[in-house]
Amino acid sequence: MGIRIISVVGTRPNFVKIAPLIREFKKHREIESILVHTGQHYDKEMSRLFFEQLEIPKPDINLNVGSSTDVQQTAKIMVEFEKILLEKNPGLVVVVGDVNSTLAAALTAKKCGIRVAHVEAGLRSFDMGMPEEANRILTDHISDYLFTTEESGNRNLKDENISKNKIYFVGNVMIDSLLSHKERARESKILANLKLNKNEYCAATFHRPSNVDNKNSLKKLLNLVQETAKKIKVVLPLHPRTLNSIEKFGLADEFKKIRGLIMTNPLGYLDFICLMMNSKFVVTDSGGIQEETTVLQVPCITFRENTERPVTAKEGTNLAVTTDIKKIQSTIEKIMSSKASKGKIPKFWDGKAAERITDIILKSNEKKK
Ligand code: UD1
Repeated sequence: MGIRIISVVGTRPNFVKIAPLIREFKKHREIESILVHTGQHYDKEMSRLFFEQLEIPKPDINLNVGSSTDVQQTAKIMVEFEKILLEKNPGLVVVVGDVNSTLAAALTAKKCGIRVAHVEAGLRSFDMGMPEEANRILTDHISDYLFTTEESGNRNLKDENISKNKIYFVGNVMIDSLLSHKERARESKILANLKLNKNEYCAATFHRPSNVDNKNSLKKLLNLVQETAKKIKVVLPLHPRTLNSIEKFGLADEFKKIRGLIMTNPLGYLDFICLMMNSKFVVTDSGGIQEETTVLQVPCITFRENTERPVTAKEGTNLAVTTDIKKIQSTIEKIMSSKASKGKIPKFWDGKAAERITDIILKSNEKKK
């Protein structure tokens, strides 16, 4: 007996995480794989480019929900996704990460009596001010399979009294994608296009609501970029949320004035990986980039008060998790003056997470027969 699996994606990091799983599902005749795109991210640069470069098949269904408030976005996905579930009646819904699309799809599946697998379960920032934290906790508590990426995830789930029978420590699908595209990324022309030399710039990305949604935080971010650009060129591909805020708060001229700052549109996957692997260091508020820099062994500074990915700081190259600009500047000085430690690669971040997940899903499907 086969199994029909609906995988759900909505945002840029979801595409990176789903790619290796879809590839793995396609290898098994007993799996009928259906891909649903919620449409949470819809620009060419935020969506289509990722499908092309990661060789993800075109989504079978697009819910086209687009942008709105968090509540409307979540609710719209649920209404549209229910129709798909009623029509297709899958044996399993797979959701990845912690975005609104993740929670909306998981909750809809649960209410329709369909089993849910959460890939990247158990991560906690312990900061309920982050929209993603509620998405993580709620998704984990209604999922039937919890696939974790690091030991802290296993511990967090146990601490929340989630049955250990549902928890599977499988590693990191985002790293599966990174490892399988690293060689192709080396061929990217991004350094030549931006007139950059290896190790002579830092790559920066910011989009978290806590950093960009109000004028004071955005001014602090401006200050961080100004101070950093005094030491080294800064390359800043702008997330649409950040660009909107810079314009809304009238700070565009201030950013444009910074000498040594190169602002670009959001980059495609291969260009961004190439940019990271040749940079002296990375400054970011992204979750996934903390993991990717650990595997690329590039120093990372996380411009946040906390991280839900502590293994990147404990074992990897995540050297500072702080919004204190002075501390960041002293970390940058250390990176510039000495050889920063390369850290070590966390357990199971070996390119085989999707294979492990597929194996577990198929074995458990066999048992149900
Ligand atoms: C979402 C996720 C976040 C993830 C990030 C990756 C939630 C709560 N947040 O944040 O966890 O790290 O994606 O990028 O789900 N926009 C465009 N074009 C697009 C997509 C968005 O212009 O293709 C603009 C819209 O104006 C929108 C804003 O960006 O209002 C923010 O998009 P949204 O999907 O709400 O959240 P992100 O900030 O991207």
